[in-house]
Amino acid sequence: MEKIIDESKQGEHIVLAENPKNTRKLYIESYGCQMNFADSEVVASILAKEGFNTTNRLEEADLVLVNTCSIRDKAEQTVRKRLEKYNAVKRHNPKMKVGVLGCMAERLKSKFLEEEKIVDMVVGPDAYKDLPNLIQEIDDGRNAVNVVLSKEETYGDISPVRLNTNGINALVSITRGCDNMCTFCVVPFTRGRERSRDPQSILEEIQELSDKNFKEITLLGQNVDSYLWYGGGLKKDFDKASEMQKATAVDFAKLLDMVATKFPKLRLRFSTSNPQDMHESVFHVMAKHRNICKHIHLPVQSGSNRILKEMNRLHTREEYFALIDKIQEILPGCGVSQDLIAGFPTETEEDHQDTLSLMEYVKYDFGYMFTYSERPGTMAGRKMEDDVPEATKKRRLAEIIELQRKHSAFRTKSHLNTVQEVLIEGTSKKSDEHWMGRTSRNTVTVFPKENYKPGDFVNVKIYDCTSATLIGEAIGLSENN
Ligand code: SAH
Ligand code: F3S
Repeated sequence: MEKIIDESKQGEHIVLAENPKNTRKLYIESYGCQMNFADSEVVASILAKEGFNTTNRLEEADLVLVNTCSIRDKAEQTVRKRLEKYNAVKRHNPKMKVGVLGCMAERLKSKFLEEEKIVDMVVGPDAYKDLPNLIQEIDDGRNAVNVVLSKEETYGDISPVRLNTNGINALVSITRGCDNMCTFCVVPFTRGRERSRDPQSILEEIQELSDKNFKEITLLGQNVDSYLWYGGGLKKDFDKASEMQKATAVDFAKLLDMVATKFPKLRLRFSTSNPQDMHESVFHVMAKHRNICKHIHLPVQSGSNRILKEMNRLHTREEYFALIDKIQEILPGCGVSQDLIAGFPTETEEDHQDTLSLMEYVKYDFGYMFTYSERPGTMAGRKMEDDVPEATKKRRLAEIIELQRKHSAFRTKSHLNTVQEVLIEGTSKKSDEHWMGRTSRNTVTVFPKENYKPGDFVNVKIYDCTSATLIGEAIGLSENN
């Protein structure tokens, strides 16, 4: 299972309203994490000013862009397959140009041009503002590459386009890159050093969304708890900041408080949290504002102290439990979800049992679970042998997924006979007569439509459930409308 919020979004392409002055056609498709989907909106916005209208027909595209993911080998294989498809189309439309964006572009750099002859342009995640120049290069018949990583780029000054959305949920990125250097992870290499975006530009972007009637904003970053704005500059240089900069710095708790206070009617979510950087102050801000959803995505990766150390996750299982206890103390009923990896190098049966017992303690609402995939260039890739047999990895993963299924069902059931505020996102996939939305805790809920409409906050009485979905009946609009 790839790490995504909505499986159906993988490979989604964006289509914008047509500008009649634009003469060329762009087809853009995205894979991987939410950050990639947010980035594609930035890219589409940059190219709309360069004479491109978007199309959802690959066959008629002048330029095809694919925003790629490197997190696991499987993610890269998916993209390679798409390139084969583009190649087939190019045979009928030889003028079509193909550009690779995102993490795979950054990881493989110009090697991509040698490996995949069909690719004309390779652009890393920090180089999207250079796209107009790069496109000029390929128009002139040369291949173009820009994979320079930046210490400053946050695209804070670009107003991303929001199309092909439901007009209700939107993503807003607040940090880029990651400095954590978990030994299994390619992100620090593909997305570069961690930097935070100016809070002013974050507030402006959210204001625009609010003006357009969006109802739920997810603040995005590889490690949101590490957000720190002190006038620009890398997190790791904060020590060298002036006294004034230090005194006026904005951390994640403060940012969350600012956004929640300024937009009391907007629902706020954030992703992803990292146990080693998450601070109690964030829980207090969450407790203070009813519009901050009571759900924390808190990847743990493993329940074994030895493996956590090998992964360079800078916390122990005991510290993780302490954090979970704190969450329940300050935010009773807050949902918690996980990411877990089965079969990290040297993982023993005992380590695996530690993971299962950690899960038993937390009883996560849901999770994204993976087998370990060795990534070239990472510390584990270089220094550790990928020594857990594939069959063992798969078996351990199956046990983890099975236990998670049990816990998800347990958490879902605990909602029975309660009233939940649900934000309607659209029609239920299973029934035209039902709305689908999510609770603050992020549990999917369906209920008869009556006269409610998408974007409404509705109080729903829960009377039944499946393992992952709540079934209820509206009892009226909530006070949040
Ligand atoms: N902090 C990031 C993590 C990005 S990677 C965030 O915003 O979510 C998402 C998840 O992929 C990680 O939490 C981890 O569980 C998984 N992952 C990362 N590298 C992996 C690898 N080499 N093999 C298997 N899973 C991996
Ligand atoms: Fe990757 Fe660890 Fe950062 S999982 S994105 S290096 S927090």
